[in-house]
Amino acid sequence: MHLRELRLRDFRNYTELYLSFKRGINILIGENAQGKTNLLEAIHFINTLQSFRTQEEKNLINTSAREAVISAAVEGGCGTKNISLFLDDKGKRVKVNNRKISRASEFLSETHVITFSPDDLFLIKDQPSERRRYFDRAILPHTPSYLKTINRYDKILQQRNHLLRDIRDRKKGAEKGLLAAWDDQLIEEGARVLLKRHNFVEEIRPFLEGIFKELSRGQKRLSIFYNSPIIPAAEGAVDADAVKKRFQDALQGASEEELRYGHTLIGPHRDDFQFILDDYDAKATFSQGQHRLAILALKLSETALYKQISGEYPILLLDDVFSELDEMRGEALIEQIINMDIEQVFITAAKKEGIPSERMGCSSFYLIREGTVSPI
Ligand SMILES: Nc1ncnc2c1ncn2[C@@H]1O[C@H](COP(=O)(O)OP(=O)(O)OP(=O)(O)O)[C@@H](O)[C@H]1O
Ligand SMILES: [Mg+2]
Repeated sequence: MHLRELRLRDFRNYTELYLSFKRGINILIGENAQGKTNLLEAIHFINTLQSFRTQEEKNLINTSAREAVISAAVEGGCGTKNISLFLDDKGKRVKVNNRKISRASEFLSETHVITFSPDDLFLIKDQPSERRRYFDRAILPHTPSYLKTINRYDKILQQRNHLLRDIRDRKKGAEKGLLAAWDDQLIEEGARVLLKRHNFVEEIRPFLEGIFKELSRGQKRLSIFYNSPIIPAAEGAVDADAVKKRFQDALQGASEEELRYGHTLIGPHRDDFQFILDDYDAKATFSQGQHRLAILALKLSETALYKQISGEYPILLLDDVFSELDEMRGEALIEQIINMDIEQVFITAAKKEGIPSERMGCSSFYLIREGTVSPI
């Protein structure tokens, strides 16, 4: 899919903007604080109904206005989608081809973007909870019903934890026998989460290994694994019943400890996603540039996987990707994008000089200055 038209009114530092874009690579050049990331944020927001920078949506409205409007025409396999989004201090209203969208989950399968933001660079070194959140979100476009699964699992977990605390604190009516009913539900929903995550990692791994190899010019081997005591570390398919049985056994094994601590010690809420660089945990061995390259490889892998499953490419947004990459790796990135034939990519950069220009003859360049965008 690709973005054909974008209109902004009072979005961040853009008071009024109308642009049409072509397929292929679009390079947005501008000095600091001119509106490069804001433009990517607008494209991301209209395609996902979420910002990659803020939870406070009112920050998206221009400081001297009370409402913001974004509209976009996105071309995809199912024709043109005209999306319009109106944002004020009460929230946002969205229409797709003039049909009102009342739930975010309804929107999930409409369009898709994959975004690299410098904030993503924390992913590999951050807390496991951040990685769980990241990958759960990455799974959603493939299985929108996964959102309900995670929410149900969280709810059951909270209630089971509550009961464990009450048993530990010897609250009246809190008895061990009551745990069994929660265990069954925890295992049922938890196994769904585990399998989704495991399968996602299995699907993304070959892409990640191949793309990282290209980006690093074959110097290192990067891989990814889902780390859970319930799913054996071996690669390949796992059986749902076997997972449930292992979950059950693990819960039984941990039951005394759980009662002592007052919370659930086994389950997908404790698992992690591990990046391995040449047989070592990447967390400990990555250089800054390798880190950036690994995240870029992950984004390109998500892009390739989406194409494999849905039949079309999502729009790819890359914010400030060339900083910290040396010339060779910058070139490798552009080459990879061209070789994958990704339908449309937006890349921001501070200077045109830093961008590897060979083979980029058909790219479109834009200059961003104080909330205006002009083709160059
Ligand atoms: N709600 C808003 N209303 C008006 N201006 C805003 C709003 N939010 C952010 N800005 C301004 O937008 C400007 C551009 O921000 P943006 O993050 O897009 O810069 P950038 O071009 O990506 O710069 P850098 O190269 O430093 O990343 C900043 O000066 C910021 O103060
Ligand atoms: Mg920026």
